[in-house]
Amino acid sequence: MKYRLSRPVIGKDLFSIIKREVKKQKIPVYRMSRKNLKELAAVSEEIKKWGCPKYLVCKKLSNGLGRGVFLHPDAKPILKGQVIASYAGEISVVVQNEPDEGSYAFAPLEDFHLSKSEQILFDKKNSFHPRRLYALKLDALKQGNFTRFINHSEKPNIIADMLAIPKNPYGLEPAPIEIVYMAKKTIHPGEQLLISYEAGEKSYWKIFKVKPFPMTPKTFKLPSSLSQT
Ligand SMILES: C[S@@+](CC[C@H](N)C(=O)[O-])C[C@H]1O[C@@H](n2cnc3c(N)ncnc32)[C@H](O)[C@@H]1O
Repeated sequence: MKYRLSRPVIGKDLFSIIKREVKKQKIPVYRMSRKNLKELAAVSEEIKKWGCPKYLVCKKLSNGLGRGVFLHPDAKPILKGQVIASYAGEISVVVQNEPDEGSYAFAPLEDFHLSKSEQILFDKKNSFHPRRLYALKLDALKQGNFTRFINHSEKPNIIADMLAIPKNPYGLEPAPIEIVYMAKKTIHPGEQLLISYEAGEKSYWKIFKVKPFPMTPKTFKLPSSLSQT
């Protein structure tokens, strides 16, 4: 698989803006636990090596759904609270409310101002305006990992948590915020990994003017015969 970015890469300048805004906006960001840090380090290594970790299957689906991600029929169940992976992609600063129809994009931070020197650095298109609002965009269209193939369901088995990655002995770069996919409940072998795209306030599907196909983790469950292939 070509998508092998284990975590988003944040430059030094952006790191300090994110840190400042998390503090200023009092965004409730919990520090990732030691257990979850170890799990994140392990899955990050799998992503760098294989793209899709060996215990998952990334597979094309019918009904025009594109690809989806499944727990391999031979794998151990994924337990509630276990790390799936970081949602990785290209990070940029964009002008708030500029139309963005990206199917793979998140806005982890919104409603912030940039100083003159920051605008020169991150907004080359516009001239300086002190009251212009900006948002952080995390887009997995061109770069990312298998999490970009996780489909939507109203009965999800995954949630997206906003967590801080503290200094740690597991080789993970610290980050002020990171979107981490976690198991919301036990995921059984063969089941599809699914998340709700509409867990926040914004409507994902309204923009695309389509109704999501209703599916649960069991709808396209992989047969155990896959183990023999
Ligand atoms: C983040 S991608 C998920 C991976 C996608 N299946 C692929 O192959 O790239 C989001 C896109 O997948 C499709 N998708 C995901 N869940 C869906 C659902 N429940 N019903 C219809 N389309 C879905 C839509 O095209 C959506 O814009």
